[in-house]
Amino acid sequence: MTHRVVQWTTGHVGREAALGILRHPELELVGCYAWSPEKEGRDVGELCGIGRVGVTATRDVDQLIALRPDCVCYTPNQLDVDEVVRLLEAGINVSSSYFINGRTLGAETRGRIEAAAKKGRASVFGSGIFPGFANFIAALMAGATRDFKKIRFLESVDLTHYDAIANYTNLGWSFDPDPKWTEINRRVLGQYAECVDVMADMLRIPLREVAFEYEPAITPEDRTIKGFKMPQGSLAGQKCTWRGMVGDRSVIELEVVWNAGRGLEPEWPVHHGYTMEVEGSPNIHTRVKFSPSQEQIASGRVADLANPITAMPVVNAIPAVCGAAPGIRTYADLPLITGRYVGD
Ligand SMILES: NC(=O)c1ccc[n+]([C@@H]2O[C@H](COP(=O)([O-])OP(=O)(O)OC[C@H]3O[C@@H](n4cnc5c(N)ncnc54)[C@H](OP(=O)(O)O)[C@@H]3O)[C@@H](O)[C@H]2O)c1
Repeated sequence: MTHRVVQWTTGHVGREAALGILRHPELELVGCYAWSPEKEGRDVGELCGIGRVGVTATRDVDQLIALRPDCVCYTPNQLDVDEVVRLLEAGINVSSSYFINGRTLGAETRGRIEAAAKKGRASVFGSGIFPGFANFIAALMAGATRDFKKIRFLESVDLTHYDAIANYTNLGWSFDPDPKWTEINRRVLGQYAECVDVMADMLRIPLREVAFEYEPAITPEDRTIKGFKMPQGSLAGQKCTWRGMVGDRSVIELEVVWNAGRGLEPEWPVHHGYTMEVEGSPNIHTRVKFSPSQEQIASGRVADLANPITAMPVVNAIPAVCGAAPGIRTYADLPLITGRYVGD
């Protein structure tokens, strides 16, 4: 069965999602939403750096809804709740890189999304690499041990080569340190707290709360990365930790360290990829690392592996999202999601 898909924006993640949809044997790209006026009327293949594919990007949401797609692959820079509600009410499933379970959006907003999904008999799901696929892998790891007691994740990256680095102004980067950034980081990165909820659901952990800690890192000199300027003394990184608490015990721990280059104060170690540790009998350790394919090397997209690995868990979930019961759906509800063999 083929699912008809509209790609929502062609930014860093969206371009990779569109390429993934075009190559997926069970998906057909039937439309594309353009947020930027200059992308209106352009061919999606050209927007993604390949030849024409015969699908034109449009800013006309009515036109895209009229296509009656099975699913929208929703990867814009930020979530527009009205837009998602409209798609769901129209009976269109949504698979997104900006959504986990919606809890940190607040009960009212989450309730609107849930009600729209029920009304349209559609489902909404979110993933990415982390939050998303990495925590799904960790939950599977816990299935191979007895007396499972704790899961710990570490993501620690240097974002020097990340094209979308300017997006981190929303976490305070390039601004002066200030106590207000703790709450802003908690809110903007709420999906990590939501991914603790999903793991607790998958592993039947009776969480009391998800605790949050924030530590800023400062640049000791003016620095510019990909044209993004961070003055001396400004924020240029952070370590955020989410702890899923059972009583006084921390049972799920996510430690996420993002640095705009080396030499920040403080300087945390960087180990690219995802380290996951499950404490049980026995303990299990996994390190998920990525390396570029020949095609990525040839196309010069080596530095930005974060984009395809964010896009593909969202794309590969589309058949399961289309088949899911209406409502907000997470990895705790969907069947096992795998990739699809494409061949040469
Ligand atoms: N879970 C994960 O592992 C993970 C990892 C990385 C990113 N993400 C999420 O994935 C999403 C896409 O990331 P990205 O790096 O691809 O973002 P991006 O390139 O900065 O933006 C994506 C697209 O959003 C549109 N856009 C720009 N400004 C907007 C605004 N103010 N309001 C609405 N749309 C706007 C543009 O669409 P046009 O192309 O149509 O102009 C842009 O190309 C983000 O929400 C990010 O948080 C998740």
